[in-house]
Amino acid sequence: KIVVLDFGSQFNQLITRRIREFGVFSELHPHTITAEEIKEMNAAGIIFSGGPNSVYDEKAFKVDEAIFDLGLPILGICYGMQLMSYALGGKVEGADHREYGKAEIKITADNKLFGDLPKEQVVWMSHGDLVTEVPAGFEVIATSASCPISAMQNVERGFYAVQFHPEVRHSVYGNDILRQFVFDICHAKGDWSMANFIELEMKKIREKVGDKQVLCALSGGVDSSVVAVLIHKAIGDQLTCMFVDHNLNRKGEVEQVMKTFTEDFDMKVIKIDARERFMNKLKGVSDPEKKRKIIGNEFIYVFDEESSKLKDMDFLAQGTLYTDIIESGTTTAQTIKSHHNVGGLPEDMRFELIEPLNTLFKDEVRALGLELGLPEEIVWRQPFPGPGLGIRVLGEVTEEKLEIVREADYILREEIKKAGLDRDIWQYFAVLPDIRSVGVMGDARTYDYAVGIRAVTSIDGMTSDWARIPWDVLEKISVRIVNEVKHVNRVLYDITSKPPATIEWE
Ligand code: XMP
Repeated sequence: KIVVLDFGSQFNQLITRRIREFGVFSELHPHTITAEEIKEMNAAGIIFSGGPNSVYDEKAFKVDEAIFDLGLPILGICYGMQLMSYALGGKVEGADHREYGKAEIKITADNKLFGDLPKEQVVWMSHGDLVTEVPAGFEVIATSASCPISAMQNVERGFYAVQFHPEVRHSVYGNDILRQFVFDICHAKGDWSMANFIELEMKKIREKVGDKQVLCALSGGVDSSVVAVLIHKAIGDQLTCMFVDHNLNRKGEVEQVMKTFTEDFDMKVIKIDARERFMNKLKGVSDPEKKRKIIGNEFIYVFDEESSKLKDMDFLAQGTLYTDIIESGTTTAQTIKSHHNVGGLPEDMRFELIEPLNTLFKDEVRALGLELGLPEEIVWRQPFPGPGLGIRVLGEVTEEKLEIVREADYILREEIKKAGLDRDIWQYFAVLPDIRSVGVMGDARTYDYAVGIRAVTSIDGMTSDWARIPWDVLEKISVRIVNEVKHVNRVLYDITSKPPATIEWE
């Protein structure tokens, strides 16, 4: 495995991810790790990541210098290069101006890091300081106009360093450079896969939990489902899952979640029927932010109440992903998924957290879910907001309106799936605006609800465009909704992008 030391750059997890994509296990560790600890890990090589500090800062992140004597290859990236240089007697200075963006480097000497890659290549730089003199025993292997020492090596000791960021896609051959380091310099074996990750995490979970009990709040979303199944695989019935039915789920969802986990995976799942409770709390409330708060808080109350009835729960499992972790320096301060998740839990928790997915990106979690045998419907489930249908019934939430939006949404989902569009569209759902309009059905005049259809394409939900669903598919959806859902006589298709609109209507 390749150990990546974290000096605080936002790209650090990308390094481990790229290496895992080569089939080599890689983990990010705090820069405070000792040489002794690395030795025990049986690593094939070490990478010093980038970071925001200057090596001369009083509080600059240092490294246990005994690491240089482990006999392992080291690759320094950006700050990692400066640190290596500084620690081994080279010189680091502030540049005249910060360099940020694409730069062209020239390879000036044969070396294993760049191997047969083109002698001139575009890389991505982001730094203030730079190395102005290499330490004894090192030679310069690449140079650029604004950064004369863009890369250096000490072949004998297996130390390499680059000022640019090979882990960033804008570095055209960045991936190849990492690959060269991992295979040609560290001689790592490319035999790691998600299956190994499962084995490794199961071991860690068992060690941490011992014979104690773990509780997991299951929402049916990808993250909590994967976490629950992984932990169950590790410790079986020492895991209890709790699923809160707040009455704001889509049609069939509660049943599907219960069936999948209790029958297919034979897990202990306690279903809490809190439907009435949520509906009572939401009565008369029409402001979206108030609704969100009520739903979020109520979830916590219910969870708290119900979990305290369970004896001896020591651990709480959470599907926190790497992207949910907000980094501050290298302390990688972890915050609990809150705003965008119903599972936002109180801070004064009596549980210790288990977060086995917190080194993974979403697509890795999906791969893990498939490897664990979770059904595609769960692994590829579209994002669903924590407050659920509570924010898709605009204005006051009533049983009747929930029923309408649930049925309309179900038809929409069926037709999108039938048309084979479900993987291309980021999110698609029905909303129920608080308006009625006049229609005619048979000979009678109707005065009924209009249903809104929202379908968007997006990369990350931050921006989105409306999906160009073919007319005939839209027509089918519209006809079916008006015919099959009571109290609906009109269907609208939302053709606004985000911004200026948001994906949800509330
Ligand atoms: P907007 O509507 O802000 O949505 O464009 C962006 C993404 O976030 C989801 N969303 C939420 N998720 N709790 C959640 O867990 C919320 O209160 C919430 N509001 C929006 C939305 O579905 C979309 O994927």
